[in-house]
Amino acid sequence: MKEIITVTKPDLPPLERYVKYLEIIWKNRWLTNNGELVQLFEKKLRDCLGVKNIAVVCNGTLALHIALKVFDLKGEVITTPFTFAATTNAIIWEGLSPVFADIDPETFNIDPSDVERKVTKDTSAILAVHTYGNPCYVEELEKIAEEYNLKLIYDAAHAFGVEYKNKSVLCYGNLSTLSFHATKIFHTIEGGAVVVDDDALHEKVELLRNHGIKSEEETLLVGTNAKMNEFQAAMGLCNLEDIVDRIQRRKMIYELYKERLSEMCVAFQKIIASKYNYAYMPVLFERREERDRVYSELAKNNIKPRKYFYPLTPNFDYFTKKGEDYCIKYNLKNAIDVSNRVLCLPLYPDLNISTIEKIIDIIKDTVKG
Ligand SMILES: Cc1ncc(COP(=O)(O)O)c(C=O)c1O
Repeated sequence: MKEIITVTKPDLPPLERYVKYLEIIWKNRWLTNNGELVQLFEKKLRDCLGVKNIAVVCNGTLALHIALKVFDLKGEVITTPFTFAATTNAIIWEGLSPVFADIDPETFNIDPSDVERKVTKDTSAILAVHTYGNPCYVEELEKIAEEYNLKLIYDAAHAFGVEYKNKSVLCYGNLSTLSFHATKIFHTIEGGAVVVDDDALHEKVELLRNHGIKSEEETLLVGTNAKMNEFQAAMGLCNLEDIVDRIQRRKMIYELYKERLSEMCVAFQKIIASKYNYAYMPVLFERREERDRVYSELAKNNIKPRKYFYPLTPNFDYFTKKGEDYCIKYNLKNAIDVSNRVLCLPLYPDLNISTIEKIIDIIKDTVKG
C-alpha cells in the first residue's frame, strides 16, 4: 500500500518507556478514578505549563462542557465560527446559544471589536479559541469581559506550551481548556484538561468531572464522568519527556515551509505568541480556486492536507437546514474569506525533508499553472 502523508501523525514514545508505566498499572491494579499516574501527570503538567491548578479529563470536548457548566452560564455565548465542531457543539449541548463574532484576518482569532458589537443583555460569556495555538488578543477581550461582566473562557485545545508576554497563555481569562487528542502536538491518546486559577472553581471542576461526588456519602453536584484513566496518563507522562524536542523539530519544518513558500503569493497567520508551539502549518492562498486546486493536486500524490476550518461552524447542516444563513446574519466576512482560502499542510516531527520539498514543489507548480 502506498504511504499517505496526512496532515499530522500521532507521536508515539519508545515502547519500552510506555511498558514501564504499564508495569506500575499492573502492580497497582488501579485503572482509573484518580490513580497514582493521573496524580503524577497533573503534578508534572502544572510544572511544565507553569499553571497553579490543572484537572485532567478524558477528552477536550468534556473539558469544554465542564468549562461552561462550572460558571452556571445562561443565555448567549459569543464565540468564533472558525473552529472545530466541539467549540460550537459544547455551547449548544449545554443549552446555551452561540453568537458568532468575526475573526481578525491576520491572526485568525476572534476580533475583539466584533465581540463587543455582539454583546446583548443575554450574553453571559465569551468562548474564544487560540486558533492553531496562536494567542487571542487577550488584553482586549479581558477589557470587554470586565466592562460587560462576562466570563472569559479560552478553548486552548491547540495551545499546549504556548506563552503570551512570557506567561502561559492558559493563565489568561477565567478558565482555559486543553485537548490531548492523538492528533494534537501533545497527547494522551484521548484526553484534555481544565486550567483555572481560582481554587474554589478548580475544586468544582474536580467534582464535575466525577459525578459531583465529594466522598462516599456526599454527592454535591450534577456532574458527569470525565475522568482520565491510568493508561491515558501513562501516555501523557511518556510524551512529556519528548515535548521540547518535538516542538523544536516542528519549528524547523514550519520555518522551512515558510521560507520556501514566501517566494509565492501566499500569506501566513500572524503569530503573536512570545513562545509558540508550531502546532499547525496554515497557508492562505490568494483565491479559493487556487486553494482547492492545490488540495486536489496534493491528493493525487497521496498527500492529504486539511481545509481547517472549512466549513465554518455556522454553516453546519444543523444550522443551514433551519434555512438561516448565519454567516450573513452575523456578518462574518473575514471568517468566510479565510475559511475559503486556508489549507493546513502536513506538519509533524518526523515528516522528512524530501516530502516537505515535494509538497512545496507541487504547490509551486499548481499555483504557477
Ligand atoms: C479547537 C478545538 N476545540 C476542542 C477540541 C476537542 O478536543 P477533543 O478531540 O479532545 O475532544 C478540538 C479537537 O479536536 C479542537 O480542535
